[in-house]
Amino acid sequence: MRVAVIGGGGREHTLVWKLSKSPLVDEIYALPGNGGIEEIAECIDIKANDTEGILKFTKDIDIVVVGPEEPLSLGIVDLVGKYRGFGPVKDAALMESSKAFAKDLMGRMNIPTAKFDVCRVKEEALLKIKGREFPFVIKASGLAGGKGVFMVENESEAKRKIEELMVERALGGAGKEIVIEDFLKGEEVSILAFTDGKHFLPLIPSQDHKRLLDNDKGPNTGGMGAYAPVPFLSDDDVESIIDRIFEPAVYGLKKEGIKYKGVLYAGLMITDDGPKVLEFNVRFGDPESQAILPLMQSDLMELILATIEERLGEMRIDFNNGYATCVVLASSGYPGKYEKGKEITGLEDVKDAVIFHAGTKRVEEKFFTNGGRVLGVTAMGDTLKDSIEKAYTEAEKIHFDGVYMRRDIGRRVGSKQ
Ligand code: AMP
Ligand code: GLY
Repeated sequence: MRVAVIGGGGREHTLVWKLSKSPLVDEIYALPGNGGIEEIAECIDIKANDTEGILKFTKDIDIVVVGPEEPLSLGIVDLVGKYRGFGPVKDAALMESSKAFAKDLMGRMNIPTAKFDVCRVKEEALLKIKGREFPFVIKASGLAGGKGVFMVENESEAKRKIEELMVERALGGAGKEIVIEDFLKGEEVSILAFTDGKHFLPLIPSQDHKRLLDNDKGPNTGGMGAYAPVPFLSDDDVESIIDRIFEPAVYGLKKEGIKYKGVLYAGLMITDDGPKVLEFNVRFGDPESQAILPLMQSDLMELILATIEERLGEMRIDFNNGYATCVVLASSGYPGKYEKGKEITGLEDVKDAVIFHAGTKRVEEKFFTNGGRVLGVTAMGDTLKDSIEKAYTEAEKIHFDGVYMRRDIGRRVGSKQ
């Protein structure tokens, strides 16, 4: 089978790495891929949001696996065909590309989430913040690459944010509509499940670390590291999350005439009142995939085909015992401005971990930084603590000018295990 993976980050390297182990897969192409992917697949210089280019290149490709949200929200699966593309069609991708759409659906289907208001004009937003308890959260409804969520502590901050998003359009069209919601406290967890619109096969739960600095301080990023599985959720907890959150979401879409196929990702806060949805994503998580997929025994290609062909009811997913931790190495300045083109050394010294490239470029035999999140180093261990220690021992062998990593990935939960 000839497979194309769309995207060029750490998640896509992980997908290509896992697909390359499948006996069903003969050839893999990555559009555009990255320096690390180049070692195991053919990289084609077509950007993930170039839907025309993707359509043209994949004419003779059997299956197109879509990594990032942008091409999904642009309708890439509608274009390549829903029996060839892996991921939801454009209307279903609204679950991520419009937080207003997702929240309205959660409201209709009684899915547990923070109390919210969707506001379409500034005056409405100003009305909805009156008398609301601080802190609360203001979110741009559209795609903002993880930069559209703001916690506000007082009225003037809230008004300023509303003005910035809805009037000044600091995030462009993404802030035309906003969601205002209550602040939730608890542990954050990412639950990902394959679904063919009828059946649900959950992956092991994982925990991302979204903030830049240790102890969850600093700005939000795409994710600075993740581990899986989370020891504080049982299989029964995950089953109940599928029943109370995933099923109503997918059935709610079906009622609107939209069939959801692909991976659905719920970002949850485990509160004192149970799990509540922070957001839905319509794809694999990054860096969650870098922690989950190395533990997966099952053949990823088989699961992708079963999803597309709506046969998930006859499938199961098996995972190895133990834990995996992925530590992200980032460029100094990320998630703001950063420099590229720094030589990366020490990769060959890493023996006890898998290196997933994100923002890298290969020039002959050397690797250079080419993005904000540069690499993910994933190590496995019998306990969460073992996997954390190993991931850091290995990650420290890698150097580039300005390398930055959080030092506490998994440690808060790992130290209690
Ligand atoms: P989102 O893109 O909606 O998942 O938001 C990004 C991050 O902001 C989440 O991963 C949480 O860490 C945080 N966040 C979002 N919504 C809330 C909320 N209602 N209460 C507390 N934290 C939140
Ligand atoms: N790790 C967060 C995301 O994939 O959106």
